[in-house]
Amino acid sequence: MLFSARIGAALIFVGATSASILPRAPDPTVQLDSGTFTGRKLGRTDRFLGIPFAKPPTGDLRFRRPVSVDSYEARSYDASAYGPACPQHDFHGAVLESGLVDNVVSNVINTFWAVFTPDNEDCLSLNVIKPSNVPSGTKLPVVVWIYGGGFQIGGTATYDGTVIVERSIQLNEPVVYVSMNYRLGAFGFLASQEVKDAKVGNLGLYDQREALHWVQKYIGAFGGDPAKVTIWGESAGSFSVGLQMLANGGDPQGLFRAGFMQSGTIIPVGDITHGQKYYDAIVEDTGCAGESDTLQCLRALPYDILKSAADQTPSILGYESLAAAWAPRVDSEFITDVPHALVKQGKIASVPFVAGNTDDEGTLFAFASRNVTTTAEFKGYIKSVLLPDISGADLDTIATLYPADITRGSPYDTGILNALTPQFKRIASLLGDAVLTGPRRFLLNEVSAKQNSWSFLSKRFKATPFFGSFHATDLFQVYGAGELQDYVINFVNNLDPNGQHLRAWPKYSTSSRQQMTFLDSIIPTSVTVDNYRVAQIDFVVDVLSRHPL
Ligand SMILES: *[C@@H]1O[C@H](CO)[C@@H](O)[C@H](O)[C@H]1NC(C)=O
Repeated sequence: MLFSARIGAALIFVGATSASILPRAPDPTVQLDSGTFTGRKLGRTDRFLGIPFAKPPTGDLRFRRPVSVDSYEARSYDASAYGPACPQHDFHGAVLESGLVDNVVSNVINTFWAVFTPDNEDCLSLNVIKPSNVPSGTKLPVVVWIYGGGFQIGGTATYDGTVIVERSIQLNEPVVYVSMNYRLGAFGFLASQEVKDAKVGNLGLYDQREALHWVQKYIGAFGGDPAKVTIWGESAGSFSVGLQMLANGGDPQGLFRAGFMQSGTIIPVGDITHGQKYYDAIVEDTGCAGESDTLQCLRALPYDILKSAADQTPSILGYESLAAAWAPRVDSEFITDVPHALVKQGKIASVPFVAGNTDDEGTLFAFASRNVTTTAEFKGYIKSVLLPDISGADLDTIATLYPADITRGSPYDTGILNALTPQFKRIASLLGDAVLTGPRRFLLNEVSAKQNSWSFLSKRFKATPFFGSFHATDLFQVYGAGELQDYVINFVNNLDPNGQHLRAWPKYSTSSRQQMTFLDSIIPTSVTVDNYRVAQIDFVVDVLSRHPL
């Protein structure tokens, strides 16, 4: 009962805020360069939506790093509606089409990972939501949201930052909220030798960085303090926070002073040529194969032809799962080495951060491999799909550390329940540890002695059939309501998540390993110790550092 009431409340809340554009107050305006931007008032906030922060990445700017927008001209700009999302990778109905899927899963997919339409190649816009009536000269802390969606889908319109700003006003800790679009899938993360040579890898990360430069230049006009920026994200957005911290040799260039990571830290990816086969497939499909400059050929294609070829490549919710076709990769430019190695070398922004996970990070990504039902097939799946270079000995060790025993798989602590197939809970446990939980603990092991850091674990929604406390359930706690939302707002203000009316959240240290834990129970939070699956996690982090995706 408590369980479904909470979801219902979260959904109603998200729905209500976006729908209630009540009697029209005078529209707020802001001056950027010579341009006048007209937004909308909503509750106690002013919303300025769909502001272009870079030139359209179309025509000859397709597959190029973002180009800063020119000074805004002396005219009026309509900032009343979200701009289109960036082109969305077709998920082929991956999870949605199955009758097995629980309502909670559908809610998450539909609320946050809906098919974002309209999408358009001309998509580089951002949104600013601020408290209304901020006296001029006010310098509020700024939180910049980076959405998730596997670097393949996502958009800003489904994350209503009004919720965050309203709550920050209630807490008397007002913040300015910014969210940006960034290029996705093949458009944002095309990967191959050609891409590497042309230095046009990781474009989606460059888009994010461009938006952060925009914030430095313009956020003062909204009452924001450019010296007090926190970057914050979930899933791919959270990995993006980690990658922004690793960029530029770990020098944040004054673009941000803190990071908040929900399910994604140090992404275990390898060289950008790991995407070569998918690049070659697109080149083949589009008839660019005979060209001397295939990249230029792709750049010149009609959008629809390129898009439908890109849609044929694997999605993150498909059988290939986290070995996705398009993701950030080592391009020797934005990402100069395997992220794991960059952390080891100390090339990471020395800023305070929070990093957390849900308890069952891997279940959503194990759903598409449910035809894998024996130990031999389990090993075959790892070798053929995830880690083609893994040795037989390492493979055997993984199979021992992650046994077929369903009581030890994920969703954890659910005994013999939720074994969708005999191997499902095993694959879910491995995937979650290898890509999401393991990298968080690795990061904390490496840097928590040097920089203030906090860790959390969300065990909420545990009763979701098959999926448990699955990836992205923590979104309801920040874009709905809950303790985590308040911890975020405190952190953005004070570089410390703690604050009044909240359970004390101890800093992480390798001696105590304390982490804030969110529960479904009547007592909704608890401080627990991050000491589970140590042998498993140490091993898979090591394997992934040697065989990055
Ligand atoms: C499961 O399905 C995938 C994708 O269709 C296929 O490539 C793979 O061989 C199948 N595995 C087994 C064990 O049937």
